[in-house]
Amino acid sequence: EKAGYDHFMLKEIHDQPQAYRDTLSGRLFKGYPWVYLPELKLTPEQIKQFRNIHIVACGTAYHAGLVGKTAIERWARLPVEAEVASEYRYRSPLITPETLVIVVSQSGETADTLAALREAKRHGARVLAVTNVVGSTAAREADDVLFTWAGPEISVASTKAYSTQLLAFYAFAIHLARIRGTLPDEEIGPIVHALTKLPEQVESILQRKDEIKSYAEEIASREHLFFIGRGVDYAVVQEGSLKLKEISYIHSEAYAAGELKHGTLALIEEGTPVVALATQPDLYEKTVSNIREVMARGAGVLGIATEETAGLAGSVDRLLLIPSTHPMIAPALTVIPLQLLAYYASVARGYDVDKPRNLAKSVTVE
Ligand code: F6R
Repeated sequence: EKAGYDHFMLKEIHDQPQAYRDTLSGRLFKGYPWVYLPELKLTPEQIKQFRNIHIVACGTAYHAGLVGKTAIERWARLPVEAEVASEYRYRSPLITPETLVIVVSQSGETADTLAALREAKRHGARVLAVTNVVGSTAAREADDVLFTWAGPEISVASTKAYSTQLLAFYAFAIHLARIRGTLPDEEIGPIVHALTKLPEQVESILQRKDEIKSYAEEIASREHLFFIGRGVDYAVVQEGSLKLKEISYIHSEAYAAGELKHGTLALIEEGTPVVALATQPDLYEKTVSNIREVMARGAGVLGIATEETAGLAGSVDRLLLIPSTHPMIAPALTVIPLQLLAYYASVARGYDVDKPRNLAKSVTVE
């Protein structure tokens, strides 16, 4: 069942190259129309009529929605809100028939997410479900479904469901952008190319998992850890922080790098571990100055960069390089070391990785 791995979580982390291939299979083309999503009933006319998008989900799926929001806004130029379902459903959100509501749920059975789906439909919105389970309630009740082909996810801590949700968002954002005419072919080409390279790039990160393992063993005895990043790096560190808390019970905070000095910088002390993501070339200089702020207070910084931002090596205590990719696509790679960090920290602390305390795989109560 675990295919020789010690835990389902580790197996599922290693399933990701194949899950990426399966989720992208048949959906990407090297030229027009670039992305093909035949399961969508949404017509180009309907897509042109949308005025805004709401992305609603819980937990890890919500974190995937944060990346989805950024990609859709940047490429398809539509205003997108992303919100946790347990808030969204109770605040009488401004939903109109010109709103597309996207619910994201690995299981397709999360109670708050389903309630948000029903609320959206009651207001006449069209609902798209991004889910991993064929025949799930979300898949049955939504107007449209995009399946993530991650395969069964057994470990309570979600890994391959999150990363394939990112791919579904990238594909859908390109689809919207092409139909709305908001992204020229010269820009779509490199994005599609970057997506096709992901499976082998994930393999190469997994081959270097010992680098993360040794870092995880170092921080395993710590009480607190900070994650910082900007843009989509900030979205990914929120997921990395949740994962670490969920299974290793090390307290951590994910902070927008530029916001630290407006908030919890005082909690950074001599030796506080900080994981800093800096994969976005246009935000690189700003992130480096935030890294300097924490280093000046004695933080020990693990930087995660791509080949384009490898200069980070000079500004951090240690560096993990991920392969070169399109900046918007970087989350599909950077999440892998963060999953491994949570996994190895949990193992080092002697916990039951696959069955963390106080957490259920599918939360069907409100
Ligand atoms: C985190 C985790 C939870 C779920 C959340 C939503 O590792 O597993 O945060 O992501 O409960 O679950 P789904 O996606 O099934 O709606």
